[in-house]
Amino acid sequence: MQTELFREMNSNPPPGQLSETERQYLYDQVKIIGPRTVLESGTWYGGGSTLSITRALHDLGTGGVLHTWEEHAPFHEVAQTFYAASDYSASIVLHRGSFVDGVSAADDAFLADVSMANPGGGPFVLVHSTGSDGVDRVDWSLVRRDVEVIRVSPLTDNMLDWRLAAERAQEVHCVESSFHVLVDSLDLPGKPLFFHTKLRTRYARHRTRPAWAWV
Ligand SMILES: C[S@@+](CC[C@H](N)C(=O)[O-])C[C@H]1O[C@@H](n2cnc3c(N)ncnc32)[C@H](O)[C@@H]1O
Repeated sequence: MQTELFREMNSNPPPGQLSETERQYLYDQVKIIGPRTVLESGTWYGGGSTLSITRALHDLGTGGVLHTWEEHAPFHEVAQTFYAASDYSASIVLHRGSFVDGVSAADDAFLADVSMANPGGGPFVLVHSTGSDGVDRVDWSLVRRDVEVIRVSPLTDNMLDWRLAAERAQEVHCVESSFHVLVDSLDLPGKPLFFHTKLRTRYARHRTRPAWAWV
């Protein structure tokens, strides 16, 4: 039996490459995760994964947008025409060109603008001082004060938005938290990283990259 989603997707859209099950899975995942931004490499004609993601974002109604790239102009144009005339036009931006080039060039646009927290745009240190219990566990005597101090606070609804700030900071201070795990996953060669574990709990014994100074 075909689902409503599959029937609708096959009523008039351009060709797509996913099976019914794959479309439904992708649709459900987007509905569950509720992303603000989705990036896709390879729109093709736009009737496959692109449509599942866009339809889910549209149905969520939370303003999430899919950015999809297609480097082959004829494919892009078919998809562009379809979505411009569809109910989903507010939930998708179609880019013509290479995904890698596009995402690299637009990187800042997909991440929180650090100027939200750093209006002067000068050098800064990034400090995440509290875990979920709200207790400040940073040894502030170790934090540089000759530059601005920016504290990670939920300026956006997506922790990944802080990646850019971590990359640009002169140094990063973290306590035990998911934010530390995020920073630990980044490639930040030469950047001073401080892991404030003085008041650590038994949960702090996981491995981290060697670059962190445990203080
Ligand atoms: C497998 S198809 C995409 C299928 C589509 N997502 C769907 O579900 O129907 C791959 C598409 O990616 C495009 N493509 C490949 N490499 C790309 C890149 N680096 N940037 C943008 N598009 C790319 C190809 O032109 C092709 O149209």
